[in-house]
Amino acid sequence: MTEDIRKRLDPEASIPKHVAIIMDGNGRWAKRLGQPRIAGHKEGMNNVKTIATAASHLGVKVLSLYAFSTENWSRPSKEVNFLMRLPVDFFGTFMPDLIKENIKVLVTGFTDHLPDRTRKVVMKAVEDTKDNTGMILNFAFNYGGRAEIVHAAKELAIKAQDGSINPEDIDDELFSSQLLTSQLGELADPDLLIRTSGEERISNFMLWQLAYSEMVFDETLWPDYSVDNLIEDIQEFDRRDRRFGSV
Ligand code: FPP
Repeated sequence: MTEDIRKRLDPEASIPKHVAIIMDGNGRWAKRLGQPRIAGHKEGMNNVKTIATAASHLGVKVLSLYAFSTENWSRPSKEVNFLMRLPVDFFGTFMPDLIKENIKVLVTGFTDHLPDRTRKVVMKAVEDTKDNTGMILNFAFNYGGRAEIVHAAKELAIKAQDGSINPEDIDDELFSSQLLTSQLGELADPDLLIRTSGEERISNFMLWQLAYSEMVFDETLWPDYSVDNLIEDIQEFDRRDRRFGSV
């Protein structure tokens, strides 16, 4: 399978090391079929397995998925409860596949504020895959970019106040070390951001980390987003000329 899927990409194509996806369009997908919004989330969850497996076979090192934002709590409680149960369903169903694929699960977000059952199942997935050496599947769950930056600023202010750092020492590197994504080390910043469903905004996702990411806005609704779509978006990334502010 690995060889098969790689053959579908230009052999010279550069593969983004870190791909981040805003998985948008579940609600519209369900509506089109006359189904409740949660049916779209369920189908979206199943698609996570397909796309994560493909990304891993393509040689992506980190796949970050925006699964629940700090703003999503304002959705109707029935939908929030369903979204909180999705990790239970996902890891309960797909853990053997993740282990087989050597995928390592990480979670980026304010996990302390999750319902007990959700937090436990997510932390168990992290623990059960901690020795895996393949692609990192990084779930942004109860994640918000502004909250993350505010949290980092507070941590640095505390350290400055207690004298463990000098305010003069605060630079990009020290600031990044206080962000939730510091667990990804040198791969913390996505090379490619994909947002599905045709919406063209960032929605508070990885505000700091996306500074120099290439962005692709794909029209496909997330439950329909296929391996072919992923390959097309990576090919689009390969056509971009990344200059990082230089010439
Ligand atoms: C946005 O679509 C999607 C979400 C808020 C949830 C995304 C979650 C998943 C795809 C499943 C995650 C899987 C695990 C294992 C946690 P929307 O509901 O805003 O769609 P709409 O814009 O069409 O209404």
